[in-house]
Amino acid sequence: MIAPTQSRTSSAVQLALELETELPRIEVAPEWKAQQRLWGHPFHPMCSYLASFPAALAHAFIARYSRPGDVVMDPFAGRGTTPLQAAAEGRIGVGNDLNPFAHLLTAAKIQPASAAEARTRLARLQLAWPTVSAQWEACAREIQANPDGGAEPVPAEVALAFHPRTFAQLLYLRDTLDLADRVDRFLAAAITGILHGKSASYLSDLMPNTFSMAPRYVRDYAARTGYVAPDRDVFACLAAKLSRLYRAPLPIGPGIALLGDARDAGHRARAALQERGLPDRARLVVTSPPYLRVVKYGYYNWLRAWFLGEDPRAIDAALDDAHHRAPYLVFLREVLRGLRPALTDDAVVVLVIGDVATDRGRTIRNGIDLAEGVWAAAAAPEGYRLAGVALDEVHPQRKMTKLWGAEAGRATQLDRILVLGASEAGRRRALSGAPLPVDWTWPPRLRAL
Ligand SMILES: C[S@@+](CC[C@H](N)C(=O)[O-])C[C@H]1O[C@@H](n2cnc3c(N)ncnc32)[C@H](O)[C@@H]1O
Repeated sequence: MIAPTQSRTSSAVQLALELETELPRIEVAPEWKAQQRLWGHPFHPMCSYLASFPAALAHAFIARYSRPGDVVMDPFAGRGTTPLQAAAEGRIGVGNDLNPFAHLLTAAKIQPASAAEARTRLARLQLAWPTVSAQWEACAREIQANPDGGAEPVPAEVALAFHPRTFAQLLYLRDTLDLADRVDRFLAAAITGILHGKSASYLSDLMPNTFSMAPRYVRDYAARTGYVAPDRDVFACLAAKLSRLYRAPLPIGPGIALLGDARDAGHRARAALQERGLPDRARLVVTSPPYLRVVKYGYYNWLRAWFLGEDPRAIDAALDDAHHRAPYLVFLREVLRGLRPALTDDAVVVLVIGDVATDRGRTIRNGIDLAEGVWAAAAAPEGYRLAGVALDEVHPQRKMTKLWGAEAGRATQLDRILVLGASEAGRRRALSGAPLPVDWTWPPRLRAL
């Protein structure tokens, strides 16, 4: 249908902005909504991540549009939902993200440590603790008394979040864990998942588990309430976290986690797959591009970023989460162009687009018809074929809209799922797979590759 022929991106964007056409529907039933909240591999909830989609949604498309041994890719992998679910189902999971925190989580999940490796490393770290604890406890006391004073200043809100002993153990682990090492990276990712939350499993109860609250708010709150952090043993909490993570066998398919811009993810994915002697084109992409609104992954994860030695401001400056509509569509067109050479001819591409947002009936500007815009200005000009759009109504309480306070909390949101073919063969495969029944048995009945 809508296929702008103008070669200049700006005119394609202009055209898209003017379109109000309803796209054809594809009848993929949203059965993922009927599954339990934690459906899927126990690595999925390793650490909370803003705007992640449920593993069951990834499964709905992986089951329909890929077979064991196929490459399944996500250029905006976030916490790794698509590649992990793909690897758990015997596919080759490839995840890319520009956020180093997202990359760490994805790598931990799809290039994981075995239970024996993780527990042995934890035992070694714990055994070494008594010999180094005095030094780290002194360091923790000093920082907590004067956070800005040391050689490496620690934000005051980090220092006050923890009991002195917990803080000393965290400083030790932060200094000792080597994030380039597969086993250490797994432990570090597991620690990010227990840094803060409102139960005894977490190392600090100052903030909810979902995201870090504004640093200034945290400092004021702590001062106003005379906050005293609970005494939590990091080794014990981490051991308990490992028990939760290793409730199921490791994912059986291979996984590749890439750090970089989605615009050249296709090229880098092919190189990485070739290097490992694997098929180098994806048969399925399941992804949700950044939302067309300000999601600050650095700012809302400042405590996790500190633990990983990352600068939250640098994370937010690098990511494409704050675009206005027109540059966003240009950005997505570049992403889809870069992906095309990394797709099989019959590949299916599933884009979960946070589309319509209304607040008590009033439409929020720029939020409307984004899926139409993405189709007309980004996908069609790059030669993709439209199979249809599936709707996914998102309950506000389940989404991160609460982040933006009471007003946003009343917003209704409809994610639109654009299902595309890389070619006509992909479009046909998408249409014929849509009505297929999906097996929701978990864990899946699969043989190892
Ligand atoms: C909506 S989230 C994806 C969440 C993911 N589906 C999950 O389940 O965790 C969008 C992701 O895009 C990433 N991102 C933003 N700009 C990017 C870029 N230019 N290249 C690659 N990733 C980017 C963000 O870091 C974020 O993880």
